[in-house]
Amino acid sequence: MVEQDRMTAFINSLDPGNAPYLDELEKRAKETDVPIIRKDTQALLKFLMAQSRPKNILEVGCAVGFSALLMAEYSDIDTKITTIEKFEKRIPIARQNFIQYDTHNKITLLEGDATEILKTLSPGYDFIFMDAAKGQYINFLPDCLRILNKGGLLVSDNVLQDGDVIESRFAVTRRDRTIHARMREYLYELKHNEALNTVILTVGDGMTLSVRL
Ligand SMILES: C[S@@+](CC[C@H](N)C(=O)[O-])C[C@H]1O[C@@H](n2cnc3c(N)ncnc32)[C@H](O)[C@@H]1O
Repeated sequence: MVEQDRMTAFINSLDPGNAPYLDELEKRAKETDVPIIRKDTQALLKFLMAQSRPKNILEVGCAVGFSALLMAEYSDIDTKITTIEKFEKRIPIARQNFIQYDTHNKITLLEGDATEILKTLSPGYDFIFMDAAKGQYINFLPDCLRILNKGGLLVSDNVLQDGDVIESRFAVTRRDRTIHARMREYLYELKHNEALNTVILTVGDGMTLSVRL
């Protein structure tokens, strides 16, 4: 793990950084304990925006809008992003950030629980970024598969749970055991579902990239 941390620090040291307002939002998020994507995860998302050039993005887990704004900043001008958040304290902050920084009006924020909202969405997304409660990913998956285009990408963050996922269930705290079991189930499903081809990466806190076949 120490080697992995050093490697990540080295990789991050080469990062040229983001647009200044994103760096400022990232700093503010850290100061206020809002969980947002890590530096190397940011780099991967930026890469994917440039490489797969999605036009219709769905994000599950907006927080205060950092990753939605990052995707907006580094995607094509006609790309649309829908993002879902249920935590009342974060929603007004996200809205304010979008008013201030989403200058091309790319982002739509849907307020409420993704469990309900996902059911109401129509197919047509070519990129889904899953970054909400880890224990719910497995429940969100059927709707994500229903609305993701063939050839589209499902990107899931925090899948390695700071390394906990490889430990025996008895080695993780009782509180985290349900999430541990569900995340293992999610990873198994992503790797074995015939509608998907998935790669698991040790980027950030663990990420999967799944293409819809
Ligand atoms: C890790 S944060 C998202 C960070 C954000 N993607 C970023 O990098 O800027 C996860 C967010 O998902 C939200 N969340 C968790 N479960 C949810 C659910 N079932 N429906 C909607 N939002 C949910 C949490 O309130 C939290 O703000």
